Amino acid sequence: MEINFKSYSKDETIELGELISKFVFRGSVIALTGDLGAGKTTFTNGVARGLGIKEKVSSPTFNIMKCYFKATLPMYHIDAYRLEDGTNKILGLEEYIEGDGVCVIEWPNFIKDLIDDKQILNIEIHHLDLNTRQFKITTENPQYFSLFEILKEKYHD
Ligand SMILES: Nc1ncnc2c1ncn2[C@@H]1O[C@H](COP(=O)(O)OP(=O)(O)OP(=O)(O)O)[C@@H](O)[C@H]1O
Ligand SMILES: [Mg+2]
Repeated sequence: MEINFKSYSKDETIELGELISKFVFRGSVIALTGDLGAGKTTFTNGVARGLGIKEKVSSPTFNIMKCYFKATLPMYHIDAYRLEDGTNKILGLEEYIEGDGVCVIEWPNFIKDLIDDKQILNIEIHHLDLNTRQFKITTENPQYFSLFEILKEKYHD
C-alpha cells in the first residue's frame, strides 16, 4: 500500500500523527525517514498526543530512546542518528521494536538489521519549502489497511 500527499503546516503534521495513532497496536513500528528538520519529531508529537501522552516529545538525540508509559499504549521513541557506527548491537533496542507498545523510529536506516520491512509503517517526509512537506506512506502490513482507507479519503493529491 502506498499514499502520497502534502502537509502545509506543522499543525497539519501533528494532526496526521494523531490520526495515525488511532490505527496502531502493540508491536507497531513506525519508521520515519527524512532530512534534518523534515518533521519527524513533529509527527511523533502528534502520535504521542493521540496516545494521551501529555509530555512534549523532543528529539532524543542524546538518549537514543525515550519511553512514554502514561499512554493508552506505551510509546518508545528511538532516534538512531548517533548509531551510525553500528553500536546498536549492544543496546538491546530489539526488545522495544515490535514489543509491547508502539515504536517510533527516526533514522531507521542506522538500525536496519533490527527492523522487519514487512511489518513496519514507513513514513518518508521531504522538505519542499518553509511550511510544506511531501509525505509518502508505504507498508506491506495488512493490519494498516483501514488506516490507508481513511488516508485515501482524507488526502487525494
Ligand atoms: N508541514 C510541516 N510539517 C512538519 N514540520 C514543519 C512543517 N512546516 C514547518 N515545520 C517545522 O519544521 C521543523 C521540523 O522539525 P523536527 O524536529 O520535527 O524535524 P526532524 O525531522 O525531527 O529533524 P531531526 O532529524 O533533526 O530530528 C519544526 O521547526 C516545524 O515547526
Ligand atoms: Mg527529530
